[in-house]
Amino acid sequence: MRAPHEVHAAAAAELRAVDAGRAALFGLRLDRWYADLHAGLSAVYPGRPGQELLLRLVGAAARAYAERDPDLHRLDQERTLAPDWFQEPGMLGYAAYADRFAGDLQGVREHIWYLRELGVTYLHLMPLLLPRQGDNDGGYAVADYRTVRPDLGTMADLRELARDLRAEGISLVVDLVLNHVAREHEWARRARAGEHRYRDYFHVYPDRTLPDRYEETLWEVFPDFAPGSFTWDDELDGWVWTTFHSWQWDLNWANPAVFAELAEVVLHLANEGVEVFRLDAIAFLWKRMGTSSQNEPEVHAITQALRALARIACPAVVFKAEAIVGPADLVHYLGSGARHGKVSDLAYHNALMVHVWSMLAAKDVRLASHALQALPPVPTTTAWVTYVRCHDDIGWAVADEDAAAVGLDGWAHRSFLSDWYSGEFAGSDARGLVFQHNPATGDRRISGTAASLVGLEAARAAHDEAWVDAALGRLLAAHAVVMSWGGIPVLWSGDEVGLPNDPAWAQEEGHAGDNRWAHRPRLDPAAVARLDDPTSLESRVFEGLRHLARVRAGLVHLHASVPAQVLGPDDPGVLLVARRHPVGTLLAATNVTPDHRPLGGWRLRELGLADARDALTGERVHLGPDDQLWLRPFQAAWLTAPPPP
Ligand code: GLC
Repeated sequence: MRAPHEVHAAAAAELRAVDAGRAALFGLRLDRWYADLHAGLSAVYPGRPGQELLLRLVGAAARAYAERDPDLHRLDQERTLAPDWFQEPGMLGYAAYADRFAGDLQGVREHIWYLRELGVTYLHLMPLLLPRQGDNDGGYAVADYRTVRPDLGTMADLRELARDLRAEGISLVVDLVLNHVAREHEWARRARAGEHRYRDYFHVYPDRTLPDRYEETLWEVFPDFAPGSFTWDDELDGWVWTTFHSWQWDLNWANPAVFAELAEVVLHLANEGVEVFRLDAIAFLWKRMGTSSQNEPEVHAITQALRALARIACPAVVFKAEAIVGPADLVHYLGSGARHGKVSDLAYHNALMVHVWSMLAAKDVRLASHALQALPPVPTTTAWVTYVRCHDDIGWAVADEDAAAVGLDGWAHRSFLSDWYSGEFAGSDARGLVFQHNPATGDRRISGTAASLVGLEAARAAHDEAWVDAALGRLLAAHAVVMSWGGIPVLWSGDEVGLPNDPAWAQEEGHAGDNRWAHRPRLDPAAVARLDDPTSLESRVFEGLRHLARVRAGLVHLHASVPAQVLGPDDPGVLLVARRHPVGTLLAATNVTPDHRPLGGWRLRELGLADARDALTGERVHLGPDDQLWLRPFQAAWLTAPPPP
């Protein structure tokens, strides 16, 4: 479907200053993406308002295109030629708060060498736009989308950092907090001052009638420190929708002006060099009475339109959905049905993360295998972001049906996981903290760094070498699973050197009530310095992860377009994931137990892997007289057939 004449005309007005070749390219992209843009917008804003919005957006896209840096135009062309760039097995992510990682944006520039050493190609810097003063949910309460947090630097610093990262093959990822703004954001301020135009940017109710009705079916995100989903505001003289904290005001996406504002923020930041937008809390964007107001279809239509717009103006940019939702809802964020492959390019694989921890605690892969097998396939043009840890707590998103299918009780298993990771369970060496205990649901989420959750913190404190080895084995096994899945594995800062929970987390201003800060430690320079000593624990963790990433980069089977297929399990302690590529199959086998566990010869023969080599060790597979390959405790093996002679 070509874009109609009036749409091209809206663009042409903004493209007068660009040369004919470049203007023509914009026209081609507009025609290519018009259908997606139109379908997305008209699903949410039918009729005239949608049409007006479309023209406004195309004008904004053309303006941004005209102003875009030549270097970024080049990147756009590169990515248009290689649209699978983010699916490549060489992708490795790293996520950090700029200040906790390296002081400020300039400090991050000075640490690019460190990221390169690890093999990083994707850097997610946690919220860095101006937040409200005081408590701001780690920056997720944005007061101004066009200003950088002054203690980190300026927009010019961000642009320079993006440029330097780009030169080193690292994509800059930032948060687009689009569900809410800070109460101090200009829109909220003007709404409070009585401007109707801005009051309509939010969901405001004169009394409790509607909020009460909505709350019948909403669930609380922060039951401890922010109960309820609405906040009374005197200045507003009304109840405002606040899914998260009372000072994070949900935006009213039913208002086309809100879409236009956020779209312009995307175009602006893309021109500063941002390559990936993390769509924060995207599940909550659309509100509907009688539902949980999560995962509503309009959310996907909005994403589709936003992505189509970016593809027109700045196709180097991709979108990542942060939807920490149940498995059945998750896949839609990568596109299903008519939106197949048309929404976010990336999404967090929350289910995989949860099951990694569940497998390690239970020393059993049966539940994980069942649950992961049950996930519908995702478009082959998309990729998961896989991870062991992030800046948030771990919520035990284990479905009751999945648990029942393998003979477990969902509630009991979730409760076991909370007990295990908080260290309350007899025999557990985990040192996590309980986050947001919700007595109504029995939910106890968990905070903690990877090292503290796998037992490394406890093992080191005990000076017990064998225990340290086992905990390290668990840590690497966890990462081997996420690195062999396909997509972009993202390491959380500090995990690469095995940092334990920050013992002083509660002492920083505004952090005492939120123990997620325990697993957001500052990157300790002393720990980094110990990387020079190959026997140090830091070095063993770092080298272990780097090795996984390097081997992964060389395996075409691990391209994200190749589905991850969970097999078996044959032994309850060994997770089996096959990646069937035309060059042959790769079998990733991970022993999640502290014992030796078998992998049957028949399985290898069935997959054409009788002569396989383990890509992680380079060794040929040796079946014992019992026709089994025995995996060492916590061993991961990535078995591939040798290339034909
Ligand atoms: C996302 C963030 C989380 C934040 C919330 C509200 O879930 O990951 O840290 O609290 O959004 O913005």
